[in-house]
Amino acid sequence: MATWLRCPSCERDLVSSGSAAWSLSCSAGHAYDANKRGYLALVDRSRGITGDTREILERREAFLRTGHYSPIAGLLDELVPQATAASILDSGCGTGYYLESLLRSRPAWDALALDVSADAVAMAVRSRRAVGVVTDVWRPLPVRSYRADVVLCVFAPRNAEEFARVLTAEGVLVVVTPAEGHLRQLREEGTLIGIQPDKVARLDATLGGRFELVERRSLDYTVGLGDAEVRSLAGMGPSGHHGTPEPRDDRRGASVDVTVAVDASVYRPRTASG
Ligand SMILES: C[S@@+](CC[C@H](N)C(=O)[O-])C[C@H]1O[C@@H](n2cnc3c(N)ncnc32)[C@H](O)[C@@H]1O
Ligand SMILES: [Zn+2]
Repeated sequence: MATWLRCPSCERDLVSSGSAAWSLSCSAGHAYDANKRGYLALVDRSRGITGDTREILERREAFLRTGHYSPIAGLLDELVPQATAASILDSGCGTGYYLESLLRSRPAWDALALDVSADAVAMAVRSRRAVGVVTDVWRPLPVRSYRADVVLCVFAPRNAEEFARVLTAEGVLVVVTPAEGHLRQLREEGTLIGIQPDKVARLDATLGGRFELVERRSLDYTVGLGDAEVRSLAGMGPSGHHGTPEPRDDRRGASVDVTVAVDASVYRPRTASG
């Protein structure tokens, strides 16, 4: 784990100190204890950002288990390089579903799962395929510069400056964002609140100072969802912070067709010369 991290106080590299692999310190003497489950919690609670709660994560896990989003994982598998050995940082990892799926066909890869929610990081490192760090993506990341060959960011906040700093010069940033029609039917009927499609033009504008777009692929398909799936899907997003949203009474028990529409964008860091 230490090979990924730099000291949040002074930015020197962290190393494992002494015999305990979970004891980390920098050369200035700042020391941190990682969790034996495989992650280091560094979040600054003073900003009040907690990220996804355990309930939201459980609903997300239940929904992802249905396989309705497996085409998104399949698209990521095509877009992320297939090098035998490389390193990947999943920012806003949530339950770790997409990271886990990429690592299945990249068994030698070195992976770091990052999220502001400790419950999310704990879930993402369960399989022991990745190590984790709990931190706020809007702060300078406690990750070494030029450390990741791939930064993955699926439906999660993006810090262009920090993503560019932690990527190698040849690295790629792979971003998944909801497109115009995403979950349209559930938004129109009011079951989902707060999810706004991310316009790719806006994405390009926020990343554009640091990154250039190399490839963009779109997915648009329809899934038939039962009540329990609608509940999990609605409760795994922003609506989930207000309890479990209920499917509409007038179609209780019937399945509803819902559009899944996402854009996956691959960016490269701009070189200093532009
Ligand atoms: C919509 S979820 C997506 C999770 C996962 N990538 C997926 O697609 O299944 C957004 C994630 O970003 C995390 N998040 C929100 N604000 C964050 C922040 N400021 N720093 C780091 N992570 C954050 C949440 O805790 C949550 O796990
Ligand atoms: Zn330090």
